[in-house]
Amino acid sequence: MRQFFRRFAILITAMVAVGSVPAAVAEDGYELWLRYAPLSEPPKSAARHAMAACSNPSDTLRAALDEIDRATEAMLGAGLPRTDMLEGGTLVLASPDCSDALTGLPLPPEAQVGTEGFVIREIRHSGRQVTLISARSDIGVLYGTFDYLLRMARGEELTGVNILSRPKTKLRLLNHWDNLDRHVERGYSGQSIWDWHRLPGYLDPKYTDYARANASIGINGVSLTNVNADATVLTPHYLEKVAALADVFRPYGIKVYLTARFSAPMELDGLPTADPRDAAVQAWWQAKVDEIYTRVPDFGGFLVKANSEGQPGPQDYGRSHAEGANMLARALAPHNGKVMWRAFVYSAEEPEDRVKQAYTEFVPLDGQFADNVLVQVKNGPLDFQPREPFHPLFGAMPETPLMMELQITKEYLGFATHLAYLGTLWEEVLSAETHAVDERASVASVIDGTAHGYEITGMAGVANIGSDRNWSGSIFDQANWYAFGRLAWDPDASAEAIARDWTELTFSRAPEVADAITQMMMDSREAVVNYMTPLGLTHLMGTGHHYGPAPWVDDLGRADWTPYYYHKATQEAVGFDRTETGSGAVDQYAGPVAQEWASLDTVPDELLLWFHRVGWDHELDNGNTLWQELVRRYDLGVSQVAAMQAVWASLEDEIDADRFEQVSAFLAIQSREAVWWRDASIAYWQSVNGLPLPDGAVPPEHDLAHYKALSFPNAPGQGE
Ligand code: GCU
Repeated sequence: MRQFFRRFAILITAMVAVGSVPAAVAEDGYELWLRYAPLSEPPKSAARHAMAACSNPSDTLRAALDEIDRATEAMLGAGLPRTDMLEGGTLVLASPDCSDALTGLPLPPEAQVGTEGFVIREIRHSGRQVTLISARSDIGVLYGTFDYLLRMARGEELTGVNILSRPKTKLRLLNHWDNLDRHVERGYSGQSIWDWHRLPGYLDPKYTDYARANASIGINGVSLTNVNADATVLTPHYLEKVAALADVFRPYGIKVYLTARFSAPMELDGLPTADPRDAAVQAWWQAKVDEIYTRVPDFGGFLVKANSEGQPGPQDYGRSHAEGANMLARALAPHNGKVMWRAFVYSAEEPEDRVKQAYTEFVPLDGQFADNVLVQVKNGPLDFQPREPFHPLFGAMPETPLMMELQITKEYLGFATHLAYLGTLWEEVLSAETHAVDERASVASVIDGTAHGYEITGMAGVANIGSDRNWSGSIFDQANWYAFGRLAWDPDASAEAIARDWTELTFSRAPEVADAITQMMMDSREAVVNYMTPLGLTHLMGTGHHYGPAPWVDDLGRADWTPYYYHKATQEAVGFDRTETGSGAVDQYAGPVAQEWASLDTVPDELLLWFHRVGWDHELDNGNTLWQELVRRYDLGVSQVAAMQAVWASLEDEIDADRFEQVSAFLAIQSREAVWWRDASIAYWQSVNGLPLPDGAVPPEHDLAHYKALSFPNAPGQGE
């Protein structure tokens, strides 16, 4: 019997090696969208050989050639043979630094592709038909190589290929909220991927695969550590480890950034102050920055959370955010480093509506920041909720480059078990019209610099990556990492097109499978909004860990941390009045936007309770009262999850067993938790408004006391 199993195992291994049993092979998600599933036949006009157009390719071009080997071996059963001489059907990689082996190659001008863009074109050269991947830099060629291989992986026709792509933003970063003890704040996929203790001696091969994955979607920077920063990372002991990671990432075009704790000079070297005007403090930072650059010559710069949620900052000394940022910027400028100064601030004294405070604080500072500072602004004015309006700072700081910060990890959208594709959330924000410049100026046009002519531009995503074998805690959460990279490259890209590409690469090229999964993804975020926070409700999650519903909580250390603050439900009414009769927050938006959202006649239902306080009997456009509509949306959310489960179940024969089972199990969790959200929320609202359930609605399974009594002491990802 044992003999039989051994033979069987050998047979399976052999079949896998020739790529003949793709669907039967267990997949654990490690390969991400770089699975390169076997192709039944090579795409027409696909290259037959590969070469770099130079005698001594850089590490970056070697990485590109390796990727070609790996991908073609997996997809076609054999790697493309390398050639030194141009033959018909050769895939040629070329850049200004890599062209000595072939004369007269048409390299694209910088005006066309910038420093990181690329061109992939089938051309005739020296009498031969070849495919040329060319750019102004080797990293551009690497990006082009990934693009080519991933098109091939999606089964795209490559005849007469002619592609030009260049990123619309310059800095495309993952922000890891990883602590040095490997706990990840708001992380739901295991421990930190950075194994600090074993660095620099042990370089986990995972670091290279991480870099490959990022390069494949154009991410060019990584901030390694939590914004709630630990100054220890700036000590020589840790900088050595940081340098080792930077060395791994360099060939993939990824720069390393660190979070700078503003009080580091005091904590590490006993200075009496961290006042940015103090000469000794300035000298300390200059020396520290110089030291970092001796170890990491292409260090990217600092990401800073200051005077926010207890973090130290310049305001501790009566100085402004600009003064604090500029002090660090001065130290970094000689090295071409950047400061990313976060605008996620709200005062400890709660003087006004929390969502107004970043605008109030930062708009007066417009124009005061040094040239190498970007202000990093979350997509919405509160905190990565399932739905928020776009942040009013976008469009309001023409003299200060604003980066957008998105949260890839799903702190507020069901952690790693709920299926929620965030591409649609981000697209909604990026495509919103700020009306800041003339008639039209989308948020995307602010971010990519065209609206205000920003010199530096960028986008950051709070990573969802951890030590889990599948990186992101769930297969579908990989799509959010992927979508972030694609949108950072092109903030105008379509969330649906991205979802489809990811699906084809991750699951299947079969059109009916790709259609079904893409549609699930496209509907998924709205489902979460419906069962968690419909109609503009917000921030109703459990205290601290943000797991599950807790709209009743009204007694935390500060009011604006409580769910109650955001809805203030009474027997008569619910919602936050942000019009002129309330906090006036709506006036932070440009005229046409403010007008639309301030009026009950024109505000979209999706933002109703964000901007307005209305009676439970307020009538909506569809004729329902607010109460009826609220219950309808909760039910809709629950049924949308059931629909996702049904679609997924129908795909059982198309998806490998391991991934199928995991997704099925997670959808079952999501389904139970969607019901929990609905029932607990309805039970609470009823306890306040005393209204009967609308006709046909099912009563909550338990009474309110049951939901209130639930507690989750070890929920993952909590902050300090
Ligand atoms: C949220 C999150 C915190 C995080 C903070 C930030 O409030 O819950 O864990 O530190 O955002 O963005 O700084």
